[in-house]
Amino acid sequence: MDPKPNHPLMKIFSYQAPTRLVYGINSIDRLKEELKKFEFKNALIVTGSTVCKTTACDKVREALNSIGKYSEFNAVRPEPETSVLAGIAECVRQSPPDLVIGVGGGSALDMAKVASMLVANDKDPIKYFKGEPIVKRGPPIITVPTIAGTGSEVTPITVIVDDNTKMAITHYTLYPAMAIIDPVLSLTVSPQAMASAGIDALCHAIESIMSVDSNPVSSALAFEAISNVDDFFERAYCNGEDIEARNGLSLASVLAGMAFSNTGLCLPHGIAYTYAVQCSLPHGASVSLAEPYVVEFNTPAIPEKIDLIAAALGIDTSCMPASDVGCEVADRITEMLDIAHLPQTLDELNLDESDIEPMVNDLLKKHARFIAKNPRKPSREELIGLYESMF
Ligand SMILES: [Fe+2]
Repeated sequence: MDPKPNHPLMKIFSYQAPTRLVYGINSIDRLKEELKKFEFKNALIVTGSTVCKTTACDKVREALNSIGKYSEFNAVRPEPETSVLAGIAECVRQSPPDLVIGVGGGSALDMAKVASMLVANDKDPIKYFKGEPIVKRGPPIITVPTIAGTGSEVTPITVIVDDNTKMAITHYTLYPAMAIIDPVLSLTVSPQAMASAGIDALCHAIESIMSVDSNPVSSALAFEAISNVDDFFERAYCNGEDIEARNGLSLASVLAGMAFSNTGLCLPHGIAYTYAVQCSLPHGASVSLAEPYVVEFNTPAIPEKIDLIAAALGIDTSCMPASDVGCEVADRITEMLDIAHLPQTLDELNLDESDIEPMVNDLLKKHARFIAKNPRKPSREELIGLYESMF
């Protein structure tokens, strides 16, 4: 066999996942031992005002106390706005930490990455979200997630909201050096927060497989992530004390994060960014609303990939025409949205069809990077049709 240059066999890919994982039930108790591997004198905990009062933070403090000095920045809010950047910059530039530990949901972990970056890069923080190059690596970052789904514990990505627009930095210096993933820490999360974050992991995994930059390694990880969400999402939602289910979602979050940090995400995340902030919708809930519609839209372009996603969801596709497989996958996602009472249409967000034009303009102007990763390139008219179908 002599494959042609554009044959899939001839595709060269790279894959990296440099974050050391310490994973498992009660793994937080290993933190003290793990911290000894980092030479630090002045650590910084980055967290939010609620998480800072939890056992998770107490355990981090306890481990740090026995080794060295530390301080805290605990003013991170969900979906952080640019106003938080000045506080983080002031905190790290007054007393530069040599280790940063993010404890909490995706936003706290994202802001821990920003704190590390600002130790070594002295420009106005917002500039780095607007394209200013990061010139130096900051101190090591440790992530301790207290909710499963965002994947931020293993990605080099940080997201902030500026004037209703989400902006992100993706840079190799933001990869956490270590992630302590203890599913026990996610037991206290409310069912709604759990559902929004858990469904985000499913969307990350599906979009990683659909991405034009998917590869066999990322797809294997994403397949496992989808399968875990399929097995455990309902159980975790219905019973907050089901540790096996929480463990399944913690694993899904990590696997999906390792997959999409290498492949990027596609159209559903881009579409979600056009209404999530103005509708005050949690990130995962905004993305999962768009996911089934985009899966159906993409199916004609990537039937084999949709087959793979269907298999991960346990759908028997034998004797099924390719076009039906996409519908089955979309239906399975919608079933999960039903279970967790997550929104499924744009009407539920009190949007109306006159909002379509501005949302499409916003998507094309500010979030085109997600379209670039999408396997089927939508025309403007097709995007309008896609949004119309979401009403
Ligand atoms: Fe996401």
